[in-house]
Amino acid sequence: MPDWLITGCSQLLTLRGAAPRRGQALGDPGIIRDGALFVHGDQIAAVGPRRRIEKLRGARRAEKLDLGGRVVLPGFVDSHTHLIFPASRAAEHQQRIAGATYEQIARAGGGIRSTVQRLRRTPDEKLKIRAFANLHDFSAHGTTTLEAKSGYGLDWKSERKTLQLLHELHQEQPLDIAATFLGAHVVPPEYRKRPEAYVDLVARRWIPTVATAGLAEFCDVFCDRGAFTVAQARRILAAGRACGLVPRIHAEQLARTGAARLAIELHAASADHLEKINASDVGALALSNVVCTLLPGCCFHLGLAHYAPARELIEAGAIVGLATDFNPGTSPTVSMPMILSLACTQMRMTPAEAIAAATINPAYSLRCHDRVGSLEVGKYADLAAFDVDDYREIPYYFGVNLCGLTMKRGTVIHSKNR
Ligand code: NIG
Ligand code: FE
Repeated sequence: MPDWLITGCSQLLTLRGAAPRRGQALGDPGIIRDGALFVHGDQIAAVGPRRRIEKLRGARRAEKLDLGGRVVLPGFVDSHTHLIFPASRAAEHQQRIAGATYEQIARAGGGIRSTVQRLRRTPDEKLKIRAFANLHDFSAHGTTTLEAKSGYGLDWKSERKTLQLLHELHQEQPLDIAATFLGAHVVPPEYRKRPEAYVDLVARRWIPTVATAGLAEFCDVFCDRGAFTVAQARRILAAGRACGLVPRIHAEQLARTGAARLAIELHAASADHLEKINASDVGALALSNVVCTLLPGCCFHLGLAHYAPARELIEAGAIVGLATDFNPGTSPTVSMPMILSLACTQMRMTPAEAIAAATINPAYSLRCHDRVGSLEVGKYADLAAFDVDDYREIPYYFGVNLCGLTMKRGTVIHSKNR
């Protein structure tokens, strides 16, 4: 593996400094103009103004990579994806265009349950090929680390298969994947009349097995109307935590249930969605270390006007993050740049805030902020270079992929000729 001297960064957004970021600090990307990086092996050995970095002894001997004036950021950390699924649900999209709601479709047997039925009969190899292609597209949009959930199996064989696939994918392609066990996505059809028995099965049997086998780092619950109650989510996440699985939670997307308060109570790493929180939830979240992971791709794809209250959260001092929520039902996108555009136009986050919320804060929520999420000495050389003159153009342009180069741990994994 060669060492690299990377120059030609018109703006180098380092995101250096204390993590996670809240309030005013969210808006300071730590920009170096005409910046450079010296990469040794898989790590950043030096970062700063080009004139200083190119004089370093090791840098002079290193392979030269001139980015020609691109804007350089830490690779995106996408902290909420449902990577493994068998097929799109484009027919449901069309039903919604005609007026049906997400919940109506789910109650009629579509939604998550339809993906579950299909995944159970899909061969592993097919799931893997689809996920590989998707991971390639994630990296082409500047993502270098992602979280991925199970939750479309909902029987032991298919949940285990999903988590094992995530493990294999982590080994076989360049992106880092953190696995989350989402056995409590919805109550599967077999348990429709006995939801408590399913909660029991997840909490008492599956979670200890997942934890002992090292199949996941995190545990998640879809705690919402039509899925699991706060009491059920508490049982499952507490069981997970007792086994060392860090809690995350799908909270307050469809209805205000109290799931955000549960996240605080359980010291969850992240509470995701939060469209339906009120002012007092905002205040409580701001006093906690729970990352408020906002998923504007869902509102966009579902055609909803009401986005999560990003400005209120930021101004109150909460830790705000952004993620794609890549999934076939509510957010079929791999593009963090698109999420940045939505965060800016629909939630009034500034471009700088959105970038911090897509890098260092989600890294904190995945407990890997000592390795990724900013461009600092000792961290992995994970970066994305954009074909723009100013970082604010990244969310400004939309529907076009301007990511010109992605590097993961010192290896170029995506490069577009200009
Ligand atoms: O984050 N809300 C639960 N999970 C996904 C939707 C999954 C699906 O519809 O397939 C979400 O929006
Ligand atoms: Fe989700």
